[in-house]
Formats: sequence, C-alpha cells, structure tokens
Amino acid sequence: MNEFCVEQLSARWVLDSRGNPTVRVEVGLAGGARGVAIVPSGASTGEHEAVELRDGDKAVFGGKGVSKAVANVLDRLAPAVAGLDARDQAALDHAMLAADGSANKGVLGANAILGVSLAAAHAVAAEAGLPLYRSVGGAGARTLPAPMLNVINGGKHADNNLDFQEFMVQPWGFDDFETALRAGVEIYHALRGLLHEAGLNTAVGDEGGFAPDFKTAEEALQFLERATKKAGYGWGTQVFIALDPAASELANEAKKAGKPGYKRFKSDQAIITSDELIDTWAQWCDNYPVRSIEDGLDENDWAGWKKLTDRLGERVQLVGDDLFVTNIKFLRRGLDDGCANAILVKPNQIGTLSETLEAVDLARRNGYGAVMSHRSGETEDSTIADLAVATNCGQIKTGAPCRSDRNAKYNRLLVIAQELGPSALYGGGA
Ligand code: PGA
Ligand code: ZN
Repeated sequence: MNEFCVEQLSARWVLDSRGNPTVRVEVGLAGGARGVAIVPSGASTGEHEAVELRDGDKAVFGGKGVSKAVANVLDRLAPAVAGLDARDQAALDHAMLAADGSANKGVLGANAILGVSLAAAHAVAAEAGLPLYRSVGGAGARTLPAPMLNVINGGKHADNNLDFQEFMVQPWGFDDFETALRAGVEIYHALRGLLHEAGLNTAVGDEGGFAPDFKTAEEALQFLERATKKAGYGWGTQVFIALDPAASELANEAKKAGKPGYKRFKSDQAIITSDELIDTWAQWCDNYPVRSIEDGLDENDWAGWKKLTDRLGERVQLVGDDLFVTNIKFLRRGLDDGCANAILVKPNQIGTLSETLEAVDLARRNGYGAVMSHRSGETEDSTIADLAVATNCGQIKTGAPCRSDRNAKYNRLLVIAQELGPSALYGGGA
C-alpha cells in the first residue's frame, strides 16, 4: 500500500446541461488526495458506443435516472479497484472491465466505469501535486488545441429547420490559443448581431450555438462568412469552417421511412443517396473554406466513407465520430480500408481513460488527426481540456463560447495556456 492506492470511492447523481441526471464520482487515495469527475451524455449517439446505463423507470426522471450506475460504482467497482495503485491507469481500468465482463460495458455501465476512471486520474494528479494534463501527458504535454466553435446548432441539438447538426468556425490561422479563442468569441457576437438584424432568432441550442430557421443550410455558411468578416478576421485565411452533419441521423430517418439513403428530416424530407451527399460536401468544399467534415456519412456506410475519403481526403479533414466511437476496433477498420483521416475522441463513447488514450495514440501513429470532444449533454467538468493538452492532439470541439458547461473547457484551456507560458504551442497553424 502506498499513497497512490485507491482507498475510497463515493458516487451520486448530479445534473447535466440538459437537466438530466448523470454520474459524479469521487476517488480518495491513501495519501489523502481526492479526484472528482462528472460524466457527460450524448444525444446523437453512435450505434456502437459503450452503453450508458439508465434506470429506465419512466416515473423517475423520465427513465433517465442513474441510480443503478451509481450503485454499481459503490457495490461493484469500488471492491474491484480497492487498494490498486491508481498511477497504473490501464490496470485500474482493466480491473473494472473484468468486473463488468461484457464487450460494451453494458453490465455496470460506461457512465459508472468512466466516472471512476477519470476521477482516479484526477486523484493521482492531486496526490502528485501536478495539473492533470501534466500528470497524464508527461513533460511533453504543451499543445493547446485549435477550437472548433459550434456557433450554429441544428439537427438533433435544436428545434429549428436545419437538417445538419453543427456549423462550426475554427480559428486556425493564429499563433496562440488565447487570440484564436478571442477571434471565435468575437465572431460569435458578430453573428448574434447579424441574426438579430435579419430578424432571426438568437436563442441557443444544446451546445450554445444559435438555432435560427434559415432558408437553406448554405445560408448558415453565408452568415458565418459575414460574421467572420464583420469581426475583422480573414475568411479562409485565419478562420475556417468545420461541419458535423451527423449523417447517421439522416440515415436513421431514411430507415424509418423504409428506404436506404439519407433523409433530410427537417427541410424538404427528400431522400438522397450516399453519392449525392458526397457531391454536396464536395460542392461546399469548392465554395466555402471548409477544413473539416465530421460524420459526413452514416456510421455503417463504409463503402461511402471510402469514396468520400478518396474524393476529399487530400484537402479536408474527415473525422469519424459515430464511425469510430473512440474504439480502436473501428479505427483499425478505418485505417485498413482508407476511411476518414481523423478520429473524434469522446471518452464516454469507450468508457475508460486508458482506452481513450489508446485510440488517440493509434490514430496519431498512423497519420490520422485526433479531435478531443465534449458531448451535447455536459457539465462543469473540464477534464477534456486537460486531455487535449495531455495528448497534444491539437484540436478540441467543445461548443460555442456560451453556456458555462461549454466555457468551463475554454476557461480551463486559458488557465493551462497561462501556466505553460512561452513553452505553449498552438494546434492551428498561422
Ligand atoms: P452528441 O453530439 O454528444 O449529442 O452525440 C455530438 C456530436 O455528434 O459530435
Ligand atoms: Zn459528431
């Protein structure tokens, strides 16, 4: 027994940004240090994600209670990790995987397991007297990520008419994180002004982006251009577009209609083919400074992904979110088949910190990009900010600069940047 050994676990439900319960875990080590983590929750989840355990009792929180997951932390995971040296994250995580025993963490719940995994990492950092990014990433951790700011929300994240989920700006052409973030914030405020002038709604969606009704999805891109220019930044030189159409949702809508393909479920309801959707992305890339497209196609459309990657992969970052679900099994298939060229990294898709780090590592070693990411249901927990720096992955997606659940991550990154001082690098490239 040394001071890094797990001595005590506590857990309870708290609320996320959508007002749903989620799991909060506290890990205490023998040396007296404590670590806390709160688990996020997605809405447009990938089919192959690790299982988020919900109680399902409709009378309590509409079925979204997490009392079983909380009980699993206390009754099943606590004995499994008691006395383990928490510095060996992989051993700790494996002890929990063994206690769960399933392939998808559906027995004890990925929300229970991830809570313990991340809280243990925080406790180790506290015991060592180090910030989390240093404790996880070592001496080389010093790259602040280029943010993707989701300033216009649609799809499953808002009640407007936009088929596609996320219209982001990425301040890429800057020297440092602070000035890049400032640009993103100023563009956000310029956009609010422009929407207001045009008589459009400025209420926000789940990730803090505006959620007005536009005539077309392309009108959203035109507003991004105007807002960037109004804020005084270079469109396509400093500031670029990143999109997450979350196309699996469009494929699900088509499936509901009993047809293959992709259904524009909010606008004209048209059903289009994979090739037609690829044509749309290619056209948008010709007409606008698009640097990144995430989930441009459905998670099961591997043949389409190959075509998309062959067509656009040389000039655009193609990110697999639902496609890879932060799981090396799916990432390996992507690497073998030549699908996508980057992975979205969401710790709760896979359910442990060590497997999350493994996915980033496999991607980077094979020349794929990696984007650290929040979920649409978030909390004040800012662990992903530290993980972005710890892995030097260079990019983060954590919403608009609005709502404290999103700004908790930006604020943490500002503090990390200040701590690192002149040794900090920026993931974008001026
Ligand atoms: P989710 O959406 O957190 O609701 O799954 C985010 C995304 O698709 O990237
Ligand atoms: Zn996504």
